[in-house]
Order: sequence, then C-alpha cells, then structure tokens
Amino acid sequence: MRNSIIIVICCILLSACTKTKSNESTLKDALNGKFLIGTAINIPQTFGIDTLGVEIVKKQFNAIVPENCMKSMFLQPEEGNFYFDEADKYVAFGETNNLWITGHCLVWHSQAPAWFFIDENGNDVSREVLIERMRNHITTVVSRYKGRIKGWDVVNEAIMDDGSWRQSKFYQIIGEDFIPLAFQFAHEADPDAELYYNDYSTAIAAKCEGIVNVVKTIQEKSLRIDAVGMQGHLTMDFPAIEDFEKSLLAFSALGVKVMITELDLTVLPSPNNFAGADVSANFDFKKELNPYSDGLPEDIELKQQNRYADFFKLFLKYQDKISRVTLWGVTDNDSWRNDWPIPGRTDYALLFDRNSQPKPIVNEIIQLAKGKE
Ligand code: XIL
Repeated sequence: MRNSIIIVICCILLSACTKTKSNESTLKDALNGKFLIGTAINIPQTFGIDTLGVEIVKKQFNAIVPENCMKSMFLQPEEGNFYFDEADKYVAFGETNNLWITGHCLVWHSQAPAWFFIDENGNDVSREVLIERMRNHITTVVSRYKGRIKGWDVVNEAIMDDGSWRQSKFYQIIGEDFIPLAFQFAHEADPDAELYYNDYSTAIAAKCEGIVNVVKTIQEKSLRIDAVGMQGHLTMDFPAIEDFEKSLLAFSALGVKVMITELDLTVLPSPNNFAGADVSANFDFKKELNPYSDGLPEDIELKQQNRYADFFKLFLKYQDKISRVTLWGVTDNDSWRNDWPIPGRTDYALLFDRNSQPKPIVNEIIQLAKGKE
C-alpha cells in the first residue's frame, strides 16, 4: 500500500515536471501568428556538426536563411559549373525541421565570381552577355529548388546611402533594368516563390527613397515583389529607431511586406563612426577597438538588451506589416561581427551567448510578444 502511494506521488511529480518543460516558452511559440522568427545558418549547422547550434535553431526558430552557401561565388565559381552540395543540404535541413526556407541571394555585386562580368580577355562583357549570364544563373538556381525555397532575396544592395545607384558591374553594364529583369527571371523559374529586394542602412531617408523608387519600378512593370528586406545590422547608436520606423512605414505603404532580414547588434566601438554593412569595409585591428575580449560588462549588456527590446517593441507594434524577423546567426560565436569590419574582435551581437545559452533578452522578447511587459 505504502509503495503504491509513493509510486502515485512520483508519477504526479514527474508529470508536473514534464508539463512545465513542454510549456516552456520559445521565441517561435511566443511570436506564432505575429511574424516568422528566423536565423541565418552556417555550414557547421547545415551539416549538423554544430549540434548545440542546431538544437537552438530547432527549438527557437521557424525560418532559416543561408549565411553564405547560396551566394553566386559558391554556387557557380566557374561559368556553367554549379556546386549544389551545400545548398542542397541547407534546403534539406529546412525541410527536415519544418522551417520556412529563404534563398539568399541571386544578384549581388559582392561575393560574385569575377568571371561573371568579364570575357576571356578580362574586358567587361556586353549587356546582352551579362543579361544572359544573370538569366542562366537565376533560372538554374531557382528552378532547382522550385516549390521548396519559399522566398528569394532576388537583388541585394543596389542603392547607396545617398539614394543613388551603386556603381556595380550589374548597373554599369546592364543599367537600371537589371533589377526588373532579375525579378522577371526569378518569377519565371518559380511563379509561387516570394521575391524580395534586400538592403542595409534602409533607415537613412535618402536611401529609403531610392529603394522606394526601385520597388515602384518593379511594380509599374507588373512584376512580382512581395517584400522589402531591411537588413538589421545595428550599432548601439545607429540607426535612430524613429528613422527605422519611418522607413518601415514607407516600404509598407507600397503594398509589400517588410522583413527584418539580417538582425544583429554590435556593442563594439565603430571606427570613424562607421555604420552600415558594406562587406568590403575593412579597418586595422587596434586593441582599444576590442574592449570586451574578456567578457561583456553588465552595464553594456543591459544597454544592448534595452536596445534590442526597443526594436522588438517596434516590430510587434507593426506585426501586421512584418512577415519575418531574421537574426544574422545563432550564437555570438557565429556572428560575422567578430570579423567585420575589423578582423579578430570579440563581439556580442546576437541573442544566444558563446555557451549557447539564451541571453536575458530572449525571455524579454517572449514576454513582450505575450503582451506581458
Ligand atoms: C556576410 C557573412 O555573414 C560573412 O560570413 C561573409 O564573409 C560576408 O557576408 N549583407 C548581406 C550578407 O546580405 O550576405 C552578408 O553576410 C552581411 C551583409
């Protein structure tokens, strides 16, 4: 009799524990029905080598984007030779784990192979040749994942901070038309895929206006565009949240969704007030520009938490306009911010720390999403 009472009590306790565990909130559960919450994944995560990282992705996120493996220099390093192993693995990872799968990115001046723009003598190719190469690249890549990749960053970073056109090879050789053409080719290859324009520093008014004009041109040609991606590479003082809000509203007013596509928040000092996300930027390492190599002081951690929270409050305020918020990496260890724009620093830009533990901001976002703050 005594034994059975003990067994019953144990069972009750056990079921209570299991219950608490399954009720534990996660980002994706708390944000369910508001917007997708995603992360960029790297090669060790894609191949399941970084098991702790994979665990976080599965538990906390419902969307992924490939940090590097779908950029043209990796997919088509030589003309006509496509290497899909990593990209295939990435898509399979998304399917196995039931995640919204984004492709990044089809047309970008950076991380593109040199051959793309030149002939055998090293001279720029003609407009016709570059259009054909762009068409072939987009068609081959998008068709391969037709129906599986749900949305594509079709064009990345075509507008400068002052609103002018970036003088990329795509722009110089093809002209403004390279954008509508890219959207047309992507749509022809997979009519059901969502198509996005993606850029950084979109909170700068002039740049925002330039992007608004790009979107309008696409729409005037009756081509599909579903969303504008506002890369969220933030610093502690750039951009002002009010400016971010203005741009978000300007994009949304075009009748497209807004996505925050590459969210991270550096706590490190910026050389010469540098901000943005130009991947070619590179400054020399100096000890004073790497102040937290032994750990992040509590006051800075708190400041960062508050700034992250302010942005998430904004995202929640406009949840009807936002389809996805994606972090640019899983843990602080993974973040490109450790090496950009200065190599070899120790940054703390993401939501999970170097021990793969959630920072306090994770629970704060969950509480905000539940309307409890
Ligand atoms: C970055 C990756 O995180 C780095 O690993 C790589 O060395 C350079 O590119 N804008 C983008 C992303 O659209 O593709 C960039 O990713 C960061 C800036």
